Amino acid sequence: MTTKDGVLRMLAEETAVSGERLGAELHVSRNAIWKAVSQLRQEGYGIEAVTNRGYRLLSVPDRLTEEGIRRHLTTVCFGREMELHERLDSTNIRAKALAAAGAPHGFLVAADSQTAGRGRLGRSFFSPEHSGVYMTVILRPACAPEKASLITSLAAVAAARAVEKLTGADVKIKWVNDLYIGGKKICGILSEAGFGMEAGQLDYVVVGIGVNVRKMEFPPELREIAGSIGNETGTVPERSALIAGILNELEGLWGQLETGEFLEESRRRSNVIGRDVLVIRNGRQVPARALDIDGQGRLVVRTEEGTEVLGFGEVSLKIGEGKREEESR
Ligand code: BTN
Repeated sequence: MTTKDGVLRMLAEETAVSGERLGAELHVSRNAIWKAVSQLRQEGYGIEAVTNRGYRLLSVPDRLTEEGIRRHLTTVCFGREMELHERLDSTNIRAKALAAAGAPHGFLVAADSQTAGRGRLGRSFFSPEHSGVYMTVILRPACAPEKASLITSLAAVAAARAVEKLTGADVKIKWVNDLYIGGKKICGILSEAGFGMEAGQLDYVVVGIGVNVRKMEFPPELREIAGSIGNETGTVPERSALIAGILNELEGLWGQLETGEFLEESRRRSNVIGRDVLVIRNGRQVPARALDIDGQGRLVVRTEEGTEVLGFGEVSLKIGEGKREEESR
């Protein structure tokens, strides 16, 4: 039995155990105990150090399993076929390869961590192990390509509903692909399309959703903007339940891609409409007032030059609020 296993066994049996007693019973130094506790924390065990009492086991790792996801799934199609990975470069990259090889509508790819998580506009997405939901759903929309461009907005509403149901938090959408709780970005969405070789028709769309779930520390460059469900609400939902919840909501909303009905909820959840923003396009920042989201999911803004309609993929936004500004990442 390794020191780590011994520590785990003792913590599981008692409410709190001092480092001294752990060391004595396992015949190792206090430093070895400290190292074992750090390793266990790295693996996702929640271990608290209580003054004068020692270590306390608060939670065991929330492992991603097919069974765990299926337990919460109420869909007919979405997520019924899936591939789970401990680690991937990017679930979007894997999903695109599977889609190109013929994987069906609703197929799910999820990973515990990503080494090259992709964000919008060429950015990366921080995806450490045991900490978040990194999932991509393969979609084969039967609608016109311009309707398919609404998929990111639809997915944002689905993810917002799922997070809200599991935590009770008020989840806002920062047009077009970010979810916020209390001023921090907790989720980003990246949709990518694949076109058929012959007629250039839309073959598939992969919608990648990344949610920061556990209480986590972010690298310095993200700290101002990024948050997690755990950090912002104190509640850490089970990741399998969140993945299934997002799939359940996504399937429920899927029929509204044609009608655009869900856009009403996008407007209601928007943390941008009615506020001053900076539209960042080709490196230029243009001050504007966000007015509305139109029937095609585009953002309507008023600039000095008049009213403009912004399409996806073209711009990023900074929300102005007094002196505070949050840049979209
Ligand atoms: C953004 O914030 O700009 C979008 C982030 C999208 C991240 C998700 S995580 C799952 C999927 N795989 C990726 O590589 N990216 C998306």
